[in-house]
Amino acid sequence: MSRTRILLSTTSYQDTPGEHHALLEAQGFDIHRERGPLPESRMLELAGDFDAFLCGDDEITKRVLDKALPRLRVISKYGIGLDKIDVTECTARKLPVLFTPGVNHTTVAEHTFCLLLALVRNLVDSANAVRNGQWKRVTGHEIWNKSMGIVGLGRIGQEVAKRALAFGMKVHALDPYWPEAFATENGVTRHEKIETMLPEIDVLSLHANLSDSTRHLVNAERIKLCRKDLLVINTSRAELVHMPDMIAALDAGTVGGYGTDVLDEEPPPADHPLLKHPKALITPHIGSRTYESVPRQAMRSTLNLVNWLKGEKDVIQANKW
Ligand SMILES: NC(=O)c1ccc[n+]([C@@H]2O[C@H](COP(=O)([O-])OP(=O)(O)OC[C@H]3O[C@@H](n4cnc5c(N)ncnc54)[C@H](O)[C@@H]3O)[C@@H](O)[C@H]2O)c1
Repeated sequence: MSRTRILLSTTSYQDTPGEHHALLEAQGFDIHRERGPLPESRMLELAGDFDAFLCGDDEITKRVLDKALPRLRVISKYGIGLDKIDVTECTARKLPVLFTPGVNHTTVAEHTFCLLLALVRNLVDSANAVRNGQWKRVTGHEIWNKSMGIVGLGRIGQEVAKRALAFGMKVHALDPYWPEAFATENGVTRHEKIETMLPEIDVLSLHANLSDSTRHLVNAERIKLCRKDLLVINTSRAELVHMPDMIAALDAGTVGGYGTDVLDEEPPPADHPLLKHPKALITPHIGSRTYESVPRQAMRSTLNLVNWLKGEKDVIQANKW
């Protein structure tokens, strides 16, 4: 009988030490390694030859599934965002999509503040200037007593709210699944619509999953409602923001800065309009990439995969039929 063949494409998983490596190796799988995130074209070349995907943000479209099945038995996503996987199609074909909620929220929340504090204190430009021999002292801003608006008060959003409160910020939020107990306990102001929240805040932090209801949530019409110099932080997905509208707002000075960990194309082309924008601060999708968080996610995604293939119950499945 041929060995179970696994496509391993998440680079965080492959590049970070941890016990997940030994657990995966111990299974006797035939493992094929790729450097993701893989575009649909590469996934189409590979699909059909694997029993399982242990993937990151690779494009698993209907066309890829057409080729991958019937051999493909399970998709184990390293991470929580499933926007690159056609989950509806997987469900229709009774293909399990496993994922790893609840293991990276603290790490992503910390990165959110890394971006915010770096923006308000001009950290990157100041440190680079010093490194280049210049003692250029630029005046920054406090975040104490400012207001933050959080879109998506889920696992990461709640961790961000706690940290914002610890910095003395006022917290507003928007979420169709409102976590009443958390909001009451922490004094988070509820908004039913983003339109009422935007005029109240100095910082907008995005933590909703990408869906039809969140795509281009931040656009020109809504930016008109914001306070001047609003800072926008995005550690969720690039598509929550309408990119040309954001660039226009940064150029016009209506948005004061955009700190983002995510881009619409990753890695971005050299001429991506945001890359060299003086008011943009971009990190290369490292929000959950820490020595603490990666092993937790990697272990969970490996256990999901191994347990599913063994028919054991300890798995976290995103889709049901
Ligand atoms: N930068 C990174 O490395 C990184 C790492 C992990 C997760 N993420 C992103 O962060 C997202 C959130 O992760 P999480 O663990 O907090 O997920 P989560 O599912 O716990 O929280 C998402 C929240 O968004 C809310 N939401 C959905 N639609 C909304 C809307 N229209 N308006 C307001 N809120 C809405 C949901 O109700 C939910 O409470 C993920 O989907 C992923 O895209 C990024």
